[in-house]
Amino acid sequence: MKAVVLVGGEGTRLRPLTWSTPKPLLPIANIAFLERQLAWLESYGVDEVVLSMGYLPDAFHRHFPEGRFGGVTLRYAVEEKPLGTAGGIRFAAEGITERFVVCNGDVLTGLDLAAMVEFHEARGAEASIYLCQVDDPSAFGVVPTRDDGEVVGFIEKPPRDQAPTNWINAGTYVLEPSVLDRIPPRINVSIEREVFPRMVEAPGALYAFHYDGYWLDIGTPEKYLQAHHDLLRGALPGTLAPGAVERAPGVWTQGEVHIDPTAVLEAPLLVGAGSVIGAGARISDSVLGSGVRVEADSVVVRSVLFDGATVGGGEVLDSVVGSGSTIGHGAGLSDVTIVGPGVTVDGGSRISGGRVPADDPRG
Ligand code: GTP
Repeated sequence: MKAVVLVGGEGTRLRPLTWSTPKPLLPIANIAFLERQLAWLESYGVDEVVLSMGYLPDAFHRHFPEGRFGGVTLRYAVEEKPLGTAGGIRFAAEGITERFVVCNGDVLTGLDLAAMVEFHEARGAEASIYLCQVDDPSAFGVVPTRDDGEVVGFIEKPPRDQAPTNWINAGTYVLEPSVLDRIPPRINVSIEREVFPRMVEAPGALYAFHYDGYWLDIGTPEKYLQAHHDLLRGALPGTLAPGAVERAPGVWTQGEVHIDPTAVLEAPLLVGAGSVIGAGARISDSVLGSGVRVEADSVVVRSVLFDGATVGGGEVLDSVVGSGSTIGHGAGLSDVTIVGPGVTVDGGSRISGGRVPADDPRG
C-alpha cells in the first residue's frame, strides 16, 4: 500500500525549533517524529511513502539520504508554493492509481490502520476519515456521522457548548484515487475545509472511522512536551527509543552514559548515549538526547534537552532546550520556554514562557 505524508507546513507554533528543523523531523523521545510515523505505516504494510513537502525540503533529503526508511521507499514531492492539505495531496499523489493512505505529519497515534482500511472497504467509501474523541472539541474540526459512519457534516472549531459531538478529524485518511479528481490542480485547497465538506453532499462517498485510542497532535509546545511524557509512560506500544535499556524502573538509558552517584534520577526518564550527569543534579520526567551535559547541582524537570545541550548548574522546568544550546550557571527556564538550537542563555537569567531567539536567526 502507498501513503502520502503531509510534511510541508512551517510549524509556526513550534518556533524557534522549526526555524531550522521541519516539525516532522523534530525528535520525540530521541527519534525523529517522522521515523516513528514511517515505522507505524510500515507495520501495516505500507511500502511506499510520498513526502508532500514545501518548507525546508533539503532537511528531509539529508535525513533520509538513501531515499528509504526500513522497508519503506520514499518519494519526494516539493511544492513551489504552499498548496494546502488537499492541493499537497493532489500534487504528491500524481501517478497513484490505487487506494492510498494520507497522514498529517504531526499526529502521534495508535490507530489500528488495518481495521480502518477494512471499514473503508466494507462501506465501499470513496474517502474515510479517522475520528478520535477529545474532551474539548472547540479547537478542532468536528465530524458528526450517522450510525453507520457516513459523515453528515463538518464543523470547524465550534464553541464548546454547541459542538454536536466530541469526535474530531484526527488527520489520517484512506482515499480512493477518484478523490484526486475532486481537487483542482496547482492551487491552494484544504481537504478538511473544502474537499470533505463538499463530499458530504455525495451520498455514500464519505465515511468516518471512530477509534478511541491514543492520539496527540504534537504541533504546539505544550503538546510537544506532552508527547514525551506520554511516551515515557508507555502510551504507545513498542520500543521507547533505539537501544534503550531500563536500568531502574522507568529510567531508560541509551548506550554509555556517565551518571554521578550523587545525582538524583526520578522516573520516568530517558537519557541518550554519551550524556553526562554531574554531582547533585536532579532530573525527573524528562528526555535527554545524546551527548547532553547536566552539570553539578542542575535541576531538570518535565523537560526535553536536545542532542549536545548543556545545563550548566541552572534549572530547566517544563521547557525545551535545542541542540547544542547552553543554559548558563544559575539560569532558570520555566513555563514552557523554548530555546532554539545553538543558543547560549546567560548565567543568572530567568525566562518564563519565552521563545529564544524570538525572531528567525537566519534574518
Ligand atoms: P503551524 O504553522 O504551527 O499551524 O503548523 P503547520 O504548518 O504544520 O500547520 P498544520 O499543523 O495545520 O498542518 C497539518 C499538517 O499538514 C502538517 O503535517 C503540515 O506539515 C501539513 N501542511 C500544512 N500546510 C501544508 C501545505 O501547504 N503543503 C503540504 N504539503 N503540507 C502542509
